[in-house]
Amino acid sequence: MTPEQIKLVQDSFGKVAPIAETAADIFYDRLFEIAPAVRPMFPAEMTDQKTKLMQTLGVAVNNLHQVETILPTIEDLAKKHVGYGVKDEHYDTVGEALIFTLDKGLGDEFTPDVKDAWVETYTLVAGAMKSAAATVEPPKKGFFSKIFG
Ligand code: HEM
Repeated sequence: MTPEQIKLVQDSFGKVAPIAETAADIFYDRLFEIAPAVRPMFPAEMTDQKTKLMQTLGVAVNNLHQVETILPTIEDLAKKHVGYGVKDEHYDTVGEALIFTLDKGLGDEFTPDVKDAWVETYTLVAGAMKSAAATVEPPKKGFFSKIFG
């Protein structure tokens, strides 16, 4: 990513931050609309989840210029995600919901350059997460998940 792209992502996230709750609502509504199969992976009550997502995104975005400082955290997070049942292909769906959310939240300010910069950011983070996830064993399927999973 270029320094200009990092700035575009940081500045545009700064505009979404004041509407973080709404952005998180839009994000999960969209995610569960395009991928209803992932809904049962999440808790029924999503408030904490929404806060964690926005906080983590904020930390990632604010440290893009020193990405090596966030990689260990991102990798640990990815390994936990394997335990939640997250597979590589889910990252594409989450990326799509994220871009949709930014488009809705930023309106005209979501210019093609801003969009490209976000796609680069997400590709970078999701790529690091998938690589880290590939280093852990997927959870073994038990009797119940074989029948109902
Ligand atoms: C850049 C990508 C992602 C980021 C930054 C992210 C962020 C997070 C964070 C911060 C948590 C809370 C972790 C904790 O409490 O320890 C979490 C949990 C979770 N994430 Fe992600 N996530 C990402 C991708 C995904 C994808 C692709 C899926 C697949 C649908 C997913 C599904 C989940 C689930 C199921 C939980 C656990 C919910 C629970 O039981 O509380 N995440 N994520």
